Amino acid sequence: LPAQEFSNILLDEVENGIYRLTINRPKTLNALNADTLKEMDAAIEILEADPSARVLLITGAGEKSFVAGADIEHMSHLTPIEGKAFAEQGMRIFRRLETLRIPVVALVNGYALGGGCELAMSCDFILAAENAKFGQPEVNLGITPGFGGSQRLTRLVGRAMAMELLVTGRTMSAEEAMRRGLVNHVYPQAELADEGMKLAAMIAGKSSSAIQLTKQLVQRGQDLDLDNACVMESDLFGLSFSTEDRQEGMSAFLENRKAKFS
Ligand code: CAA
Repeated sequence: LPAQEFSNILLDEVENGIYRLTINRPKTLNALNADTLKEMDAAIEILEADPSARVLLITGAGEKSFVAGADIEHMSHLTPIEGKAFAEQGMRIFRRLETLRIPVVALVNGYALGGGCELAMSCDFILAAENAKFGQPEVNLGITPGFGGSQRLTRLVGRAMAMELLVTGRTMSAEEAMRRGLVNHVYPQAELADEGMKLAAMIAGKSSSAIQLTKQLVQRGQDLDLDNACVMESDLFGLSFSTEDRQEGMSAFLENRKAKFS
């Protein structure tokens, strides 16, 4: 599916190598149905195939919501087997996003509930607007999280706080989410998009090979024991010495000039 045919999301290259994916169903507060997930999958495929891609920003259309969850209307018609397939679809796509070779940053501009919180947690990190709200309210619908919420929330905020949030279904403010380590920075709503672009430009100006190797280290390392994780780090450290960026980065330092990465 080419980007021009998307009807539930927007994918644009805002500047060289800086992509923005917007979940674009504002009438449902950007709820995720199967078609939206399919388009996200196609968008990730486009990014995977573009060697000039440097960073991906993900946000929601409108002023009110990032993503208010999986689409409850859609889910209300599903059998248990179909429900499982829907979870597997979301799980696979979020994992594909999480392991995309470039950094992925969520700009959470309002509600990030259920599947929305799960989407934000599948990004490398989160910038939030002051009005953002985070939570896993699935218990209120008589279901469990299905796109990785029970697992990623526990890894990000610890077991005790994750349990509290999961069993009460309560929402957290942006400020609380930052205090708990879920969110990196909170900005006034009107400044979130600009702050996201500033950060993206900073990332895009650095060594893309070093950034991609670093993402692999963090992503793969967190599921390894420390001995194997450190072996991987020395391997990729060695590999980074084979790049032109290493040549340029070190020469620039020694010559007292700013590095210009290709
Ligand atoms: N799915 C489908 N439609 C949704 C939706 C969702 N998750 N969230 C909001 N909408 C729709 C509403 O039905 C409403 O549609 P209509 O205008 O046609 O009535 C429209 O978006 C606006 O929503 P509200 O009128 O409810 O707006 P509000 O400001 O009063 O409340 C809200 C906002 C608190 C976010 C509320 O909409 C809400 O609680 N939404 C559901 C949140 C939720 O439970 N998310 C988890 C879903 S389960 C899940 O995600 C499973 C998983 O892990 C995979």
